Amino acid sequence: MSDLQKKNAGEAAAAYVEAGMVVGLGTGSTAAWFVKALAARNLPDLRCVPTSERTADLARELGLTLSTLEDTPRIDLTVDGADEIGPGLALIKGGGAALLREKLVWEASARCICIADAAKVVPALGTFPLPIEVVAFGHKTTANRIADVLADHDIAAPARVREAERGLIRTDGGNLIYDAACKLIADPARLAADLKSLTGVVEHGLFLDLTDLAIIGTDEGVETINP
Ligand code: A5P
Repeated sequence: MSDLQKKNAGEAAAAYVEAGMVVGLGTGSTAAWFVKALAARNLPDLRCVPTSERTADLARELGLTLSTLEDTPRIDLTVDGADEIGPGLALIKGGGAALLREKLVWEASARCICIADAAKVVPALGTFPLPIEVVAFGHKTTANRIADVLADHDIAAPARVREAERGLIRTDGGNLIYDAACKLIADPARLAADLKSLTGVVEHGLFLDLTDLAIIGTDEGVETINP
């Protein structure tokens, strides 16, 4: 059952936190289990940098002390979920639209632990649509450039803007998300570089060479994967 697996992973990750640390708090249902388990440990002198407004709300509710990247630019440990975990601990993230703040926090961290249920581990990245954060101004022209990059990677389907009943989804930074149904990302590093080079693209959900450890929840406990 995936919720039990997420809980097991989140709780196991909380054991890696020590008193006095600056901790990056991820976003999503698995990261929420970590935040709850961390708050329950009641460690002294923790400062927590959340990767989204909703994680900030949860952490505040649970009594954790919040900080910002401006006030605490060096983070000891970040724990966050993932949408897919591929070979070498290459990840797709951003299903919860928090990828930009997540990546800023991850890149400021001495150590990053990815937590997930077992279904997130895949032999190759690309089944989960790749989220791409795009500036709203002129976003349809940016989408055309994204389609050209995807075509160059043998990905035929254009990326689709993420929307809900109330309209286009906005990130915490006010940007839009396009989701690219890649099916198979044959060369994640080249795709990451090509997307990043486009004007109008703020960030993409490929997290490469950033994960130090993955904790995968099982129904009985957890398994760990090193890069
Ligand atoms: C948030 O933008 C994402 O990167 C999440 O970390 C990811 O979608 C995993 O979410 P769940 O833990 O809810 O599956």
